[in-house]
Amino acid sequence: MSLLKLDIYHVRNIQKESINPSPGINFIVGKNASGKSALIEAIFILGRAKSFRSTSIKPVINQDQAHLIVSAETLQSDGRYCHLGIQLDGKNTEIRINQQSRQHKSDLAYALPLQLIDPKSYELLDAGAQVRREFLDWGVFNDDKNFLIAWRKCKKALSQRNSLLKTRQIDLLNVWDKEFVYYGTIVNKSRLNYLQKFKPIFIEIISQFLNMKLLDLTLMPGWDVSKELQQVLIQDLDKDLRYGFTHSGPHRSDILLSVNNCLAKDFVSRGQLKLIVLSLKLAQIQLLAKEHNNLACILIDDFSAELDSYNREKLLHYLSTMACQVFITATELTDFGDFSQIPLYKVFHVEHGNIKPFFDI
Ligand SMILES: Nc1ncnc2c1ncn2[C@@H]1O[C@H](COP(=O)(O)OP(=O)(O)OP(=O)(O)O)[C@@H](O)[C@H]1O
Ligand SMILES: [Mg+2]
Repeated sequence: MSLLKLDIYHVRNIQKESINPSPGINFIVGKNASGKSALIEAIFILGRAKSFRSTSIKPVINQDQAHLIVSAETLQSDGRYCHLGIQLDGKNTEIRINQQSRQHKSDLAYALPLQLIDPKSYELLDAGAQVRREFLDWGVFNDDKNFLIAWRKCKKALSQRNSLLKTRQIDLLNVWDKEFVYYGTIVNKSRLNYLQKFKPIFIEIISQFLNMKLLDLTLMPGWDVSKELQQVLIQDLDKDLRYGFTHSGPHRSDILLSVNNCLAKDFVSRGQLKLIVLSLKLAQIQLLAKEHNNLACILIDDFSAELDSYNREKLLHYLSTMACQVFITATELTDFGDFSQIPLYKVFHVEHGNIKPFFDI
C-alpha cells in the first residue's frame, strides 16, 4: 500500500497542501515548528482517525478553521486504487472510502496500515501494559480478520460485567461471564498465534541491529494460565464485587520481553532499548508483508532525536530493503546521512506549514 497523492486541509499550521509522495522513502526536512510532525500527524489521522499527539482532535484542527480533512489516492497492495478521506470537527467523524461513507474507523485502518515511530514510541517497554497490548493488537488485528469481532464482543461483555459488579447484580453475571470467557479465549488464542509467528521475525531483525542472545517474548494472557478463564472468574468473584471491576481476563494481558532471563527494560542500555523497540515495530510490518503481502506505511517522526548516526544509517538501509512507503522527518538534511544509494526516494521541505518538493540536493 502506498499513498500516491496526499491532500491535507487545516491540520495544525498546514492550511491546504497537496503532495505526490514517493512509494519509497520520503525525507521531510524543516526547521523547528515548520509543520513536519503535522504532516506525519495528518497521515496518521487518515489511517487511525485519531492523533498520536493529542487525545482530542480539537487542538489538531487549525486554529482559524472548524474542521480538518485528510484524503489520499492510494495504491493498495493488491494493485487496486483506493481513495480514502476523513473529515473531523471535534464532534463528528466522516470517513469516505472510494466516495462511499463508512462508519467504522477499522475500515480506514485496514486500507491504510500504518506504523508510527516517534520519540514516545521508545516508551513501549517502560510504559504500562496497555501500550504493549495496543501494540500487539495492531499486529493481531491486521493478521487475523476474526480478531476484531472477538475483541469487540469481549470488550462489550467486560463492560457489561463491570456494570453488574458495580451495581451488585450477581444473578445476571452468568450471561456476560459466558460471553466474556468465550470471546476472551478467542482473543487470547489469536494473540498467542500471532506472537508465535512474530517472534522469529523479530529475532531476525534485532540481530541486524544488536548482538543479543537469550532474547525472549512471552504473552501474559491476563489470568493464571494453569486455569480456565471461567474458573478464574469464579475464584475472583468476591474481589471483583468488592472493587467493582473484573481483575482477570485478556484486558489485563501483557507481553514480556526478556534478555538473559531478565526483563529487557531492567537489563539493557537506553540505546539498546530503542533498537529493540524499533525492531519490534519493524517486525510487525515484516510479518504483515510476509504473511499477507500487505505493505504498511511507516511514519518516523524526529529521526535524529533518538539514534546515533551509525544506527541511523543501518536503519535507513534496512528501511530501503523493506519496499514499504516511509515518511521520515528531521530538522537537517544531513541528519539522514548519505542516502544517495537509496533506490527510491523524494525529499520535501516544510516551512510555515507549506510542503514543497526539494530538488536542490
Ligand atoms: N491548531 C493549530 N493551529 C495552528 N497552528 C498550530 C496548531 N497546533 C500547533 N500549531 C503550530 O504548528 C506549528 C508546527 O508544529 P509541528 O509540531 O508540526 O512542528 P515541527 O516541524 O514538527 O517542529 P519540531 O522540529 O520542533 O518537532 C507550530 O508552530 C505549532 O505551534
Ligand atoms: Mg516535530
